[in-house]
Amino acid sequence: MKIKSICCIGAGYVGGPTMSVIAQKNPNIKVTVVDLNEQRIADWNNVDLNKLPIYEPKLDEVVAEARGRNLFFSTNVDEAIAEAEMIFISVNTPTKTYGAGKGMAADLKYVELCARQIARIATSDKIVVEKSTLPVKTAEAIQSILDNTGNGVNFQILSNPEFLAEGTAMRDLAIPDRVLIGGNQTEGGKLAIQALVDVYASWVPKENILTTNLWSSELSKLTANAFLAQRISSINSLSALCEATGANISEVSKAIGMDSRIGPKFLQSSVGFGGSCFQKDILNLVYISRSLGLIEVADYWHQVILMNNYQRDRFVKNMIKTLYNTVSGKNIALLGWAFKKDTNDTRESAAIYVADMLIDEQAIIKVYDPKVTRSQMMSDLNYLNTRPEEENTKYLHNETSPYSALNGAHAVAILTEWDEFTTYDWQRIYDQMQKPAFIFDGRNVLNQQQLEAIGFVYKGIGS
Ligand SMILES: NC(=O)c1ccc[n+]([C@@H]2O[C@H](COP(=O)([O-])OP(=O)(O)OC[C@H]3O[C@@H](n4cnc5c(N)ncnc54)[C@H](O)[C@@H]3O)[C@@H](O)[C@H]2O)c1
Repeated sequence: MKIKSICCIGAGYVGGPTMSVIAQKNPNIKVTVVDLNEQRIADWNNVDLNKLPIYEPKLDEVVAEARGRNLFFSTNVDEAIAEAEMIFISVNTPTKTYGAGKGMAADLKYVELCARQIARIATSDKIVVEKSTLPVKTAEAIQSILDNTGNGVNFQILSNPEFLAEGTAMRDLAIPDRVLIGGNQTEGGKLAIQALVDVYASWVPKENILTTNLWSSELSKLTANAFLAQRISSINSLSALCEATGANISEVSKAIGMDSRIGPKFLQSSVGFGGSCFQKDILNLVYISRSLGLIEVADYWHQVILMNNYQRDRFVKNMIKTLYNTVSGKNIALLGWAFKKDTNDTRESAAIYVADMLIDEQAIIKVYDPKVTRSQMMSDLNYLNTRPEEENTKYLHNETSPYSALNGAHAVAILTEWDEFTTYDWQRIYDQMQKPAFIFDGRNVLNQQQLEAIGFVYKGIGS
């Protein structure tokens, strides 16, 4: 079966870029990305490509090529479902904030709503693809909803988790390490798998397209994120040991990374990982394990999160201690608010927690991030619900230039590894700062020797 029409429900960080690339590489397939969020869809349709709702290097070029040709963004969910032969569910699956599994389990209400809507609208057979990251066995629930509330048409469920990393999404989509497709091992299931394989085969070499059963595919995504986050927490745990012993974490990372069994990636110690996925997916894994009575498994993975929280706390405590045990009334500049470079995504960013802890200590925070707006920063901070919003407004200031953020600052913390931070005139910054001028490099990206030669007191992580 050759797919001619695709719908994707959810025009977020995954749905938008993923479907843009599928449309770019398959000019004969009509791809419609739908969302309930009208502003988001309006932004996707903005003629000014600088105003797309998410920032990803080179995303604008792909959208420019495909939009209006075979790529469409719309709020008409029903129409897009009715028309499509293949429907991707790419909605958010955040950690539950209420009821059973609160703070741990994935909230599947948005996914279930999609399933019910597809069942209600569909009057012809559909292949439904789980693109969102979901707990293992979710396909069973989706199948049950579709079959029990549908119009008697046939639904095949596939799992096709997305492995893109924000900041490098377009490259990851263009040359993926692998594409994973899980499906039922029945005749109908195999045909559905093949239909999706054909979509990807337009640009992905066949040997990089992996097909499995549904549960392996669902679990592989959680596992991949757990392993990646575990590496960060592992190296971060050792950064504390380095600081206590005189070892240097960069040297240790390099030494172990040259072992081909370990490999050099994801061994950079930092203030901690953020992003919408790692914490959520590990908590979900912990919850599933605990629900199945696998307490030791749950505790093992939970430690990855606890270590990440510890690293953030340790970073702030270290700042306060170095700043003579008080930051009250001091100006502290934060460079970076996004959870990593080359994205405007701030979900679970370490910067939010660092700012929150510093505001607890009554520090005056001036933030500069090249891609994040003040309203986003305020909403991130207010979401923590630590104190009245007026207080956040009083203590947190967004600056439109790094030099104004740093003017008169007692200290600066680097919280995102934006490349431009290394290109600043640090002598000029030094001259503008209070003395002694402290740099807390939460990403280990600046040149320690150069900064110390200027006169800064430099504190990296793990040295
Ligand atoms: N962000 C990443 O880097 C990444 C990577 C891999 C996988 N994932 C997974 O992909 C999924 C989506 O993540 P995201 O970052 O794109 O989320 P997102 O919040 O950016 O986007 C989700 C979108 O879905 C829309 N939506 C929710 N319910 C809807 C409905 N019923 N009808 C229409 N639209 C609806 C929301 O309005 C929102 O715009 C999650 O499960 C996530 O874990 C994310």
